[in-house]
Amino acid sequence: MIKKIKVGIVGLGRLGRVHAYNIAFNIPNAELIAVCSVIPEEVESVSKEWGIPYVYADFGEMIKNKELDAVAILSPSPFHTEHIEMALNAGLHVFVDKPLGINVEECKLSESAVARHPNQVFMIGFMRRYDSSYKYAKQLIDQGKIGKPFLIKLTSCDPEHTIEGAIRFGANSGGLFIDMTVHDIDLARWFLQDEVEEVYAIGGSFVHKEFDDYKDADNTLALMRFKNGGMAMFHSGRNAAHGYQVETEIIGPLGSLRIAAEPRKNLCTIFDQNGIVNECSQSFQERFNEAYLEEMKEFVRCIVTGEKPGITVHDGTMNTQVAFAATQAFHERRIVKL
Ligand SMILES: NC(=O)c1ccc[n+]([C@@H]2O[C@H](COP(=O)([O-])OP(=O)(O)OC[C@H]3O[C@@H](n4cnc5c(N)ncnc54)[C@H](O)[C@@H]3O)[C@@H](O)[C@H]2O)c1
Repeated sequence: MIKKIKVGIVGLGRLGRVHAYNIAFNIPNAELIAVCSVIPEEVESVSKEWGIPYVYADFGEMIKNKELDAVAILSPSPFHTEHIEMALNAGLHVFVDKPLGINVEECKLSESAVARHPNQVFMIGFMRRYDSSYKYAKQLIDQGKIGKPFLIKLTSCDPEHTIEGAIRFGANSGGLFIDMTVHDIDLARWFLQDEVEEVYAIGGSFVHKEFDDYKDADNTLALMRFKNGGMAMFHSGRNAAHGYQVETEIIGPLGSLRIAAEPRKNLCTIFDQNGIVNECSQSFQERFNEAYLEEMKEFVRCIVTGEKPGITVHDGTMNTQVAFAATQAFHERRIVKL
């Protein structure tokens, strides 16, 4: 019989529950044995409905559980650094969702914690790298299909219907660049295989003034130049009327690639009294369902084989650093050099 990797998870919110479900039911060689959240109803419902033996309100208590091999950290972003270090010190393999930290100092602390534990797997969740369309685009670029890409245009918008959650979550999100654009920054660095040299960014609270209270915005634009001359432009938003839109265009001398040029729910077109209708995906959970599973499978596979994940803790630092520079450019109305 195969040995199952025993995993505990902290955070059972919007994304934590998705990962918890995948670990519990969709990864044959993993087992969810412990859950932790500061919201008692969340741990109770998951433990009762899914039969999870150990429940905790305190992360420090959970990682004392000697049966654990690994933890998945899905707590709010400002807790990531602390939770990463605690888990690594307890001898556990660590998966943490993005961002690595909400500023570069935090990320550096995590980098040195990871360096002190070279025999434990550390993986950061930038799930788009595990989405089949993005993976395919990367393969095509690596094969030279469009030549060396020089421009990337990236859009990421949450739907208007989740705006209440976004406003509630906003105070702890680190801001739109660190919370949302960071995914696109990761993609641009991955596709261009290069690092950002300078950043300019603007934005505003055009519909939901609440974001002004956090010195944040409901829509932002960033423009970046990469060290080898590549360019990228980023639109991030919180209130797309039609649904959840993540779209990427990669342009090279021999052609271009577009991923999800229309953020369609699926390939079914409806012909009815409204005309010809293509429905739109409505949430990150729906659009990237497969990618969340694939990245967690990769984490477990690396624990079993002793291999290292393709995405590193340093990628986490670089992504936060660029997102932080964009935040600075937006606040200070200037070009920020890295
Ligand atoms: N990769 C993605 O597409 C994506 C999408 C959403 C969220 N995220 C990331 O996942 C993380 C969680 O986001 P979310 O939207 O699920 O948040 P959420 O607010 O919905 O849930 C947070 C969870 O953490 C728990 N929690 C809070 N403080 C805690 C503490 N001190 N100790 C233990 N548990 C604590 C809460 O009880 C809750 O269960 C964030 O870092 C976010 O950036 C990534």
